[in-house]
Amino acid sequence: MAKVAGEKPFSEVIKDRRATNNFEEVPIHAADLEKIIRAGLEAPSGYNLQPWRFIVVREREQKKKLRQAAFGQPKVEEASAVVVACGDPKGWKDGDLEEMIRLAQEHGMNDDNLFNTIRQNVTNFLGGNPGKPGGTEPTWDLWVNRHVMIAFTTIMWMAEALGYDTAPMEGFMENQVKQLLHIPERVRVVAMLAIGRRKGPDKPYGGRFDTSRTIFAEEWGKKIEF
Ligand SMILES: Cc1cc2nc3c(=O)[nH]c(=O)nc-3n(C[C@H](O)[C@H](O)[C@H](O)COP(=O)(O)O)c2cc1C
Repeated sequence: MAKVAGEKPFSEVIKDRRATNNFEEVPIHAADLEKIIRAGLEAPSGYNLQPWRFIVVREREQKKKLRQAAFGQPKVEEASAVVVACGDPKGWKDGDLEEMIRLAQEHGMNDDNLFNTIRQNVTNFLGGNPGKPGGTEPTWDLWVNRHVMIAFTTIMWMAEALGYDTAPMEGFMENQVKQLLHIPERVRVVAMLAIGRRKGPDKPYGGRFDTSRTIFAEEWGKKIEF
């Protein structure tokens, strides 16, 4: 088992990260794994509703089955841990909203008027009808995706900062993953993250688009000057 890792500077982490294709089959240190996953829980979310749920798959047999649900990608079985990132669009109704308020009170926030406004806003927004795909209001899929991916990415950066390698994945059959991991029907599986030690050298950097294609100033399409 690897020893507990120190942390790399963040800009180095960003520069060095690659999506890893093959991992050494070594266990991850439990203290590192806990630090990595807990980092994700510190992500921001609308009204602090934290609609993410993570299933950490470490057991060999379970990883093997998960690999089958991920088009046979070897990294799912080889990685030390695979984090299956899910989003619950209705968790707010099942206690998350009241738990968020209880936690806020525990942390010294005592504005009952604000809490009642939040209760009303959340119920109006998330208790209403979702937007239609392609419309201007968010669908519940978009809403959970928006939140889960921030937490997911935070987990990825923390793993990389501790010197682990990671592979984000969308290549899986959601229904098969849900069946295998006993995920409730209303919950969406947003992405999976394999974490471990890469086998062999990193794949080459694929480059990124020129800023003229991806960053605009003041309005869509207007060139930015730094
Ligand atoms: C949300 C997401 C899903 C991805 N899904 C897969 C996948 O299922 N299988 C795979 O081999 N790579 C997957 N990738 C990795 C991308 O191919 C990779 O990030 C991209 O080519 C850029 O390479 P780099 O991350 O090494 O810079 C995924 C990346 C992201 C962000």
